[in-house]
Amino acid sequence: MKSQDVRATFLNFYKEKSHLIVPSAPMVTKDDPTLMFVNSGMAPFKEYFLGNGIPKKNRIADSQKCLRVSGKHNDLEEVGYDTYHHTLFEMLGNWSFGDYFKKEAIAWAWELLTEVYKIDKDILYVTVFEGSEDSDKLKMDTEAFDLWKEFIAEDRILKGNKKDNFWEMGEQGPCGPCSEIHVDIRSAEEKAKVDGRTLINEDHPQVVEIWNLVFMQYNRKADGSLENLPNKHIDTGMGFERLCMVLQNVQSNYDTDVFTPIIREIETITNTKYGHNEKQDIATRVISDHVRAVAFSIADGQLPSNTGAGYVIRRILRRAVRYGFTFLDKKEPFLYRLVDVLSKKMGEAFPELKAQKQLIENVIKEEETSFLRTLDQGLVLLDAIIENSSSKEISGEKVFELYDTFGFPVDLTALILSEKGFTLDEKGFQEELQKQKNRSRAASEMSTEDWTILVDDAVEEFIGYDSLDANVKLTRYRKVTSKKDGEMYQLVFNLTPFYPEGGGQVGDKGYLEDVHGDVVYILDTKKENNVIIHFTKNLPKHLNESFKAVVDEKQRYRTECNHTATHLLHQALREVLGVHVEQKGSAVHSKYLRFDFSHFSKLTTDELRDVEDFVNARIAGKLPLIERRNIPMEQALNEGALALFGEKYGDTVRAIKFGKSMELCGGTHVKNTGDIWHFKIKSEGAVASGIRRIEAITNEAVKDFYYDNNRTLFEIKDLLNNAKEPVKAVQKLQEENASLQKQIEQLLKDKAKNLSGELKNQLQEINGVQFLATKVDLDANGIKNLAFDLGKDHKNLFLLFATAPSKEKAMLTCYISKELANQRGYDAGKVVRELGKLIHGGGGGQNFFATAGGRNPGGIPNALDKAKDYLV
Ligand code: ALA
Repeated sequence: MKSQDVRATFLNFYKEKSHLIVPSAPMVTKDDPTLMFVNSGMAPFKEYFLGNGIPKKNRIADSQKCLRVSGKHNDLEEVGYDTYHHTLFEMLGNWSFGDYFKKEAIAWAWELLTEVYKIDKDILYVTVFEGSEDSDKLKMDTEAFDLWKEFIAEDRILKGNKKDNFWEMGEQGPCGPCSEIHVDIRSAEEKAKVDGRTLINEDHPQVVEIWNLVFMQYNRKADGSLENLPNKHIDTGMGFERLCMVLQNVQSNYDTDVFTPIIREIETITNTKYGHNEKQDIATRVISDHVRAVAFSIADGQLPSNTGAGYVIRRILRRAVRYGFTFLDKKEPFLYRLVDVLSKKMGEAFPELKAQKQLIENVIKEEETSFLRTLDQGLVLLDAIIENSSSKEISGEKVFELYDTFGFPVDLTALILSEKGFTLDEKGFQEELQKQKNRSRAASEMSTEDWTILVDDAVEEFIGYDSLDANVKLTRYRKVTSKKDGEMYQLVFNLTPFYPEGGGQVGDKGYLEDVHGDVVYILDTKKENNVIIHFTKNLPKHLNESFKAVVDEKQRYRTECNHTATHLLHQALREVLGVHVEQKGSAVHSKYLRFDFSHFSKLTTDELRDVEDFVNARIAGKLPLIERRNIPMEQALNEGALALFGEKYGDTVRAIKFGKSMELCGGTHVKNTGDIWHFKIKSEGAVASGIRRIEAITNEAVKDFYYDNNRTLFEIKDLLNNAKEPVKAVQKLQEENASLQKQIEQLLKDKAKNLSGELKNQLQEINGVQFLATKVDLDANGIKNLAFDLGKDHKNLFLLFATAPSKEKAMLTCYISKELANQRGYDAGKVVRELGKLIHGGGGGQNFFATAGGRNPGGIPNALDKAKDYLV
């Protein structure tokens, strides 16, 4: 059965069992601080399990893109080494939200596997939770055991521990016992030798779990205790790629048609053959897996970057490049060439891949190119480290520096070192790594208390499109402590005018006031699993009374100017540059807006001008806001509304219209474009290959911008004696400056030449070494040239030069002929480090050349005097 049919069969089966089939949600989570990526099929439905929202139907099924590369579920380092773990995989799942429970979940899973997919019952095993003494709620799941007995022999129902048979979404939240279904696809011969039962959950490549049925019935609280959920739910997850492996009668996920087209392409590009060399096979699996994760992330709007989710994606991509570089000898970009086959293979089920193929290729190629450059630089640095090392073992600190500062992978360092007969101090490296982890863990550590519920079953209503203040009741609150923000309180109300951060727009600020006049400031507002959370430093005194909640009107208004301007900018870019322009990121603050979009080249001055004019014409046109809430998605799209990849939309949407600009948007906007007053682009540049960024301002900020620029211009004119044409005057100054600079350089060169002749005569022979320690009147570069110039004629030189460019500045430079440094173990770095103390400073370098800077020229005579001590 082809993989497309495997997926379709699953969805059809559950459709017939009255499930609503939904498309996969985007992989990058938006309103869940505990989760970076969707890591299981249930993650997009968390709000329903938590009781924060009501699903469209209480039976749902889908195939969800999942990424297990961070947090509680992280398989990254395993990928490639076995045949069944992935970074990105599809999870086929069916859900019951308070509807059916264990009986149906088990019966249907069995029916689908054995009667529809026709998997031989004799290769299946199931597991049930054996119970645990941690809590009286964690009893053995006899109910599931009895239900399974109807379908499968008792000796094929195995009992499993808490690790394998109790599923938890995170440290806190919904959880419950689970039953896993495993397959044993070994040969009859193998089976006769070793009983399959002994291999369940033992990491055997042919005895693997394919489906997990979770019976959600508890909520894990902050103190670790379990409470019953008001309703019982079903959450199941089947590994799509593993199921394909079983149904296609192959022994590895990578031998299914999900992967083989990609692997064939890798073989062609790298001129290798999969299945012949263990190291190359691992690299091929790594690459075929990682390119999927990276391509899907970019399609969902998550570009590789230096922080957060973007950094995780960058690391996955770099891991693939590294394996290609090291084991398949690919020293030039090639991953991007796999996107074509991937989009052909998966583009039907995931149209976002097809639609954004060009962009995905561009971004991957650019990332590859820049990482390969880093690898090249790293190789040069590593060579220098090897050359200067007095020991055959390279210190963990040095290797860590290469890894941390230059992104040079440690496994590659180890490989290169071993090829050159060196080793690395693995323990030292691990210690440095741990230190860094501790630092970042301490910085991000956070503890969250359980909610204190004041009003049961409260539903929260957002009224912030229409009002900026309201009388509200507090329904629940909790304390959150983090290193970054200290102690904060999170408050939830029955209704709120506060806009929670989302769609690029910042969260509202404001205050709460009770009838006694006590005020608490709301510092930020965010949405978390569909709940609007208000952040305060203090808890209100009178929790059960009602409050007046007031949004900071000025900040909201300025933010709205920027949000509406963002829509107009989007429209302008599509009009001026073309409809290939798509939004790739947006930040709407009160002070500025930032807009990332797909476009292949730098905008010209004329294009920027056209874009600005376009937006300002619509501002001058005073276009009224036409807001339509709750219109069907299809209708909005038919009317031409712009929707974004990577956003989760419901069946009904909110459309925002200003003239011909129409976007699906949840944000807040000005009532009329005339309110914006003016729009000004401040900068335009590249974020990644094929992605540009515009930063712009509106309203008051534009006034301030013009005032500031004007003032600067006046000040410049003033400095130029009121020159009529300040630009020409500055150009003239620059030319004069360049010519003077040249003259100075020439003079210094002449001076150094003369000096070199003079100093040669002053060399003194000590202990077989030509020695000189003296003060010279040259800059750092001049001294360096002088030293190396003298070094050309003498192979046994030891020089210490000092200079004092000002009263508070002193510099020492030590030069030792390489031969001398290597034979006698002299170390210029050590000399300047030690003598540097005398000039109240420090420095370093290599054993043949090093410099130190300090604040005390008074120490120079002493330093010069001490230099000869190194020779005796
Ligand atoms: N949520 C369950 C899992 O990921 C089905 O295994």
